[in-house]
Amino acid sequence: MSDNFSLMIHGGSGALAHIRREGSEADFMESLHRILEGGREVLAKNGSALDAVEYCAIALENDRLYNAGHGSVLNEYGEVEMDAAIMDGQDLAAGAVAGITNIKNPIGLARRVLAKSEHVMLIGKGAMEFAKLWDVEVMTDDYFVVDARIRQWREAQKAGGMMLDHEDAEPQHKFGTIGAVARDAQGHLAAATSTGGIVNKRWGRVGDSPIVGAGVFADNTTCAVSATGYGEQFQRTVLCKMISDFIYFKGMDAGEAATAGIEYLVEKVQGLGGVIVIDRHGRCATGHSTSGMIYGLIERGGESICRLS
Ligand code: GLY
Repeated sequence: MSDNFSLMIHGGSGALAHIRREGSEADFMESLHRILEGGREVLAKNGSALDAVEYCAIALENDRLYNAGHGSVLNEYGEVEMDAAIMDGQDLAAGAVAGITNIKNPIGLARRVLAKSEHVMLIGKGAMEFAKLWDVEVMTDDYFVVDARIRQWREAQKAGGMMLDHEDAEPQHKFGTIGAVARDAQGHLAAATSTGGIVNKRWGRVGDSPIVGAGVFADNTTCAVSATGYGEQFQRTVLCKMISDFIYFKGMDAGEAATAGIEYLVEKVQGLGGVIVIDRHGRCATGHSTSGMIYGLIERGGESICRLS
């Protein structure tokens, strides 16, 4: 057993009023603690950072509280279409899927892409064909769709536009996406991000979550990062790679790099969202430009700390 590891998870960012409409504070705390403790078990038994982030991302996808897997938001046709990516900091290996339907755990499929294909990203029908090859679990449409998402989609359709997850007339929104980052006892880093995207999205829109460098990044020499927020802004700023670069070129630690990254996001594109970061020394940090963020962490084998703040 080892306790020389760190682990972080997130369940989106936004205004707390919006976050609390999806579940009580107690619901989120219970969920975050349970998932972190499960991840701790993986790492304590000398599991890899990659196994730990996959484990946590799958547990978050399976929880209806979050906009990923079960409970994802609906696109313009009232369907769930998901994106996910996973990255290994040892060799920068990555696997991603975009615009997929009916896959119970998109992050599991992304891991298959990483391990079993010579590609980084598979999309749509091709990704589904690949999933069949590996017997990846599929579910019927009704598994993914929860009542709260139908109400939200109807509001967006009535308003005639896309919604950034739980957007309404208030200036702050809730950006649902889930993610996990880890440093294992061997010092390897990994990151995973998964999402249903934005409400009423059109034309095969893909956000930042499955894009290496934008919504996910891991490099053993710097850090592991997972993002949540308005995907287009994270794509334009390549924000997760930017945070890694702050460490690589400027020698920052996780906290400094997370802060500098969010400052850059705001300065360049007035971006809204947040990040979780673990650096190569196992230090944990968050940064967000929204008023709140849902996250939990275990730093260097310590107690699990969960926040809705
Ligand atoms: N950050 C998730 C998305 O924009 O799709």
